[in-house]
Amino acid sequence: MATIQELYQEIIIDHSNCPRNEGKIEYPSHIAEGYNATCGDELTVSLLVDNGIIRDIKIRAQGCSISRASGSMLTEKIRGMSLEEALKFSKNLRKMLSEDVGEAFDENEMGDLTALSGIKQFPMRIKCATLAWYTFENALKNIFPISGK
Ligand code: FES
Repeated sequence: MATIQELYQEIIIDHSNCPRNEGKIEYPSHIAEGYNATCGDELTVSLLVDNGIIRDIKIRAQGCSISRASGSMLTEKIRGMSLEEALKFSKNLRKMLSEDVGEAFDENEMGDLTALSGIKQFPMRIKCATLAWYTFENALKNIFPISGK
């Protein structure tokens, strides 16, 4: 029987190998590029926002499996949210991924993102997991290009 870590690994590999909503929206309302200065990996987040709701979101990523998987999960989670709701979620998620805030991931709320819950044990990978989220937040500000921190 697979351990929970093995199951999380499978989820990450699945999203990395078959990223959801991959690509670039042809006429986006918001767009940003993210860059991880540590490794040189890049990604682009494009959005179609209408009436304050994220109707579409795509990510084109050239990066490691963690960054690709995190971006894929982001698109699934964020699509359909209001801008306010999505920004709040993104900031909370980044905090949970990078700081020891003592909050457990709620599997019902997080879905596949729960697979990233152990990432803070690997400080070198935190930037990988948060790059798409930083870039998403910068896309909402229409900052282009940006640094993924
Ligand atoms: Fe470059 Fe992960 S090693 S984003």
